[in-house]
Amino acid sequence: MSLIPKETVDQVIAQADITEVVGDFVSLKKKGQNMWACCPFHHEKSPSFSVSPAKGIYKCFGCGKAGNAVQFIMDVEGTGFPEAIRYLARKYGIEIPEEEQTPELAREQSERDSLFIVSDFANKHFQHNLHAHEQGSIGQSYLKQRGLSSATIRKYELGYSLDAWADLTDTALKAGYQQKYLEAAGLTVVKEDGKRYDRFRGRVMFPIHNISGRVVGFGARTLKPNDKKSPKYLNSPESDIYHKSNVLYGLFQAKQAMRMQDMCYLVEGYLDVLSLHQGGVENVVASSGTSLTEGQIKLISRYTQNIAVLYDGDAAGIKASLRGIDLILENGLNVDVITFPEGEDPDSYIQKVGDTAFKAYIKEKSQDFISFKTSLFAEEAKGNPVKKAEAIKEVVASIAKIPDAIKRTVFFRSCSLIFDIDEQVLISEYNKMHLEGRQQQRSGGTASFHEMPVAAPQPEKPASDADILARYEREIVRMLLNYPDNILEEGITTCQYMSEQLEDVEFRTPLYARLLELVKEKLCTGVLPTAEDFINYPDQEIRTAATNLLSEQHELSHNWETHHIFVPRETDLLPYGAERAVLRLKWRNVELLLKGEIEKLRLVTDPQEQDRQLGNIMMLKSLHSQLGDMLGIVVNK
Ligand code: UTP
Ligand code: MN
Repeated sequence: MSLIPKETVDQVIAQADITEVVGDFVSLKKKGQNMWACCPFHHEKSPSFSVSPAKGIYKCFGCGKAGNAVQFIMDVEGTGFPEAIRYLARKYGIEIPEEEQTPELAREQSERDSLFIVSDFANKHFQHNLHAHEQGSIGQSYLKQRGLSSATIRKYELGYSLDAWADLTDTALKAGYQQKYLEAAGLTVVKEDGKRYDRFRGRVMFPIHNISGRVVGFGARTLKPNDKKSPKYLNSPESDIYHKSNVLYGLFQAKQAMRMQDMCYLVEGYLDVLSLHQGGVENVVASSGTSLTEGQIKLISRYTQNIAVLYDGDAAGIKASLRGIDLILENGLNVDVITFPEGEDPDSYIQKVGDTAFKAYIKEKSQDFISFKTSLFAEEAKGNPVKKAEAIKEVVASIAKIPDAIKRTVFFRSCSLIFDIDEQVLISEYNKMHLEGRQQQRSGGTASFHEMPVAAPQPEKPASDADILARYEREIVRMLLNYPDNILEEGITTCQYMSEQLEDVEFRTPLYARLLELVKEKLCTGVLPTAEDFINYPDQEIRTAATNLLSEQHELSHNWETHHIFVPRETDLLPYGAERAVLRLKWRNVELLLKGEIEKLRLVTDPQEQDRQLGNIMMLKSLHSQLGDMLGIVVNK
């Protein structure tokens, strides 16, 4: 990834209008100072997603997602920072000059670029073959016979590779593409005698896109039924741009629908994806014949936490893929299972019964994975106690993968019903496994278990000193960010007041210390910091913290207003609030200092040293009670 110059990033951020950017994805309605919409990140019926044009940020009060225009694109498109900047630059017609790079970086970059470029050329060539070459009609009629419409064929950019030795290779070389890149992309194969030929010949081509829509590889299906000599599907080999474990077929075309429906349907094959999408189930992706990887699960979880696995009808296949599903659970996602009648796959079934019946079927047959697995094993173990014990272990092992304790509890309950045993049996099985898991971990094993045994909930820990300090420090930073230039007294702004008051106070919480430092730095240059400085800050942690703090102005709930109760706004009380926030922090700091000094006194044996230490303590005590008085806190003297 080449670097984008800082000035360009700044220019993009300055030009990006949050209302316009968000407005491309949801329709916003003005209400008060803010704009509102139903959240694009979670399913909801009444709008809790707000955009503040004044602050340039969005925040959803339902799911908590928040940030500036760049963050919005990162969230909605599931991309990283540079991609989001590129997106916005395109939108606002800002050109991105390529910055100087190290030679290695430039070489790597251009290598990968070259692979993208030849793959794109091949994709266009295959599509041209399908639509315009005389041989293309063979592919066309095959796809039509499989029930695919022209719209689907175009949308997924399907193509055809001619039944010739080196059609693609020759065309590409003639057009000036280099053989080494054709080879590296897996399109051209070179024999020992130096002869070149195309990897894909006489096949229907399924381009595989990455998340931003660039072609990274191909799947290719033969048109011959039951050809024993060559495999049904040929796939591109791994390359610098194609890592199978990090790609899902159809994700590019499905991602928007996945987010809106808050659901991802997972199938096995290319044709399953195409048929379902065409039938109106657009949120569908395929793992392409391999078992799901962690990388693929992470990709899905950018858009939704809910997966439904659509299985072909054979029991053997189902059992084989159970392990893969544990991996989904382990990543905290919810998994449902939908099975099809023997001999049918999702593609054949939707072609057979039609879209409407298919949608009704998946709705009706959808079953959560744990219950599905439990029923599967319970059925097998019927009347066989030994098998039943194994079955219980098997199911509990899956439940143990679920990171969320509440979900686990729910599953223990529903499983106890299916197995017809006491819930406690399952829980103690879990606890046993948990213990073994921990012992294994200690001896270097890798078993993964979550938190504590179920039956022994931990009492809530009291807030630590660090927690309390963090709370006070946070409050000060919140005021600084929300009201940097409000006048507190005689021309003194919040910023000036705080930085004077806190001159010799050190924040203990690293995040707030950094934020305070940033404010002070800005002040040193003679300008007041603004909200934009923080919500556009390069460091993600700072941006997120600032955005959250900025959407927290302690304003009144509408209830108060509608009941005609007068409550002052926070800004009216700011001088008072700011003073108290500072006092409270100082008071706590002194208290902690005092604690430390008293500890030290115990260790001192030299009488002179003891006296000095006592003096110290008395001084701190008096300071502590002075601060307490100012806060109206009664301190035991
Ligand atoms: P299937 O054999 O179930 O094929 O393989 P399918 O998707 O139903 O294909 P049609 O309906 O016969 O055309 C499922 C997936 O496994 C991968 C492909 O990704 C395929 O879509 N596969 C299968 C291969 O990679 N190579 C093969 O030889 C077979
Ligand atoms: Mn099939």
